[in-house]
Amino acid sequence: MVRRIYFDNAATSFPKPEQVYDEMNRYARQIGASAGRGAYREAVETGEIIRQVRGRIAKMLGVNCPESIIMTFNCTDGLSLAIKGLLRGVGREMAGREVSGREMSGRGGQVLHVVTTRMEHNSVLRPLHALQRELGIEVSYVSADAQGLVDPEDIRRAIKDNTVLIALVHGSNVCGSVQDAAAVGEIAREHGIVYLLDAAQTMGHVAVKVDEIQADLIAFPGHKGLLGPLGTGALYIRPGLEEKIEPLKEGGTGSRSEIPEQPGFMPDRFEAGSHNALGIAGLNAGLEYVEQQSIEKMRDHELELCRVFLERTAEVGGLRIYGPDDLAKRLGVFSVSMAGFEPGELAAVLEEQFGLLTRPGLHCAPFAHQAIGTFEQGGTVRFSFGPFITVEDVEYAGDSLRRIAQVAVR
Ligand SMILES: Cc1ncc(COP(=O)(O)O)c(C=O)c1O
Repeated sequence: MVRRIYFDNAATSFPKPEQVYDEMNRYARQIGASAGRGAYREAVETGEIIRQVRGRIAKMLGVNCPESIIMTFNCTDGLSLAIKGLLRGVGREMAGREVSGREMSGRGGQVLHVVTTRMEHNSVLRPLHALQRELGIEVSYVSADAQGLVDPEDIRRAIKDNTVLIALVHGSNVCGSVQDAAAVGEIAREHGIVYLLDAAQTMGHVAVKVDEIQADLIAFPGHKGLLGPLGTGALYIRPGLEEKIEPLKEGGTGSRSEIPEQPGFMPDRFEAGSHNALGIAGLNAGLEYVEQQSIEKMRDHELELCRVFLERTAEVGGLRIYGPDDLAKRLGVFSVSMAGFEPGELAAVLEEQFGLLTRPGLHCAPFAHQAIGTFEQGGTVRFSFGPFITVEDVEYAGDSLRRIAQVAVR
């Protein structure tokens, strides 16, 4: 039987560290309670696990306000809360001022403007699109070069008087390009504009530090680089900014049950309903693993894999590899295309004949494929590395591509 190698870590990391499975098993069999809903030991212990996860994430981001970390169910969930919650909140605030006669005319006062990029995932593009219809917001999409890199100065040039949000994807899930998030943070700070970073592909892969990047909002999944299970994620909200963000849902929090409104304090303001405590227990163990290994060491391993992949595929005829040549500006996420193959066809051959699990198509980022010139061909095939991919796995992937290229009679 052909061995199977999972190269779809940009979708979700797999496998997870052993301690993640062990911790989920322990939680499911021995604890099993919901947090904040009881005073018995198991409920308290669940609360403690969630508290630890917030603490670990806060430490990783370099902040000392764990209550500003909102637990979400994936990165999409956090991005939606950040984008819709902020723009609805700001829109309502302006409309309120308009009612009091101090604001400009128009729908809900001034039209809100957002600057984002063509490298974004649909998790950013679609909420913005929905808000164009709902609130009449205006959106500018800053271009990227053919390697998927955005010039921060283009972001500066796109800013207008009514810009209220800059949304940037830190690492591309299409071609692995890493944007200069700190330079964009500087620009956002200079203009006093709220800055949202989509760290879906970078959290756990490279250092993401709030004080260096100066982001006000950082959304990320727990199930990719942080090595937790599916169904986990988080959103960092700069302390004080929560007041401007409208919750997207209301419900039980186990706190202030006597009042009809959603409590305003963090994190309860945005955490209605029972937590995915089983998933969060796994995430706690995933975070512990990342801490033990260190992001630096994991980054070194990923870069080594990138080097080997580029070397091994350098002379494969008809193969094109997209994304930055400079390793310092990339992640272990590679888009490839091979002359004569549709992306779906190439992915099928890779799986059926070589046991390599990759992802073909547009990867939920259509504009990014336009930027790197692969939209018209139906996208690319994506190889994405994780911490358990070995150098031998990558060599085998390179050799498999070479063999496909050699036997392709087209
Ligand atoms: C850049 C980027 N943003 C957002 C997301 C959405 O993440 P999730 O699958 O956790 O909702 C992804 C998922 O692949 C992504 O790559």
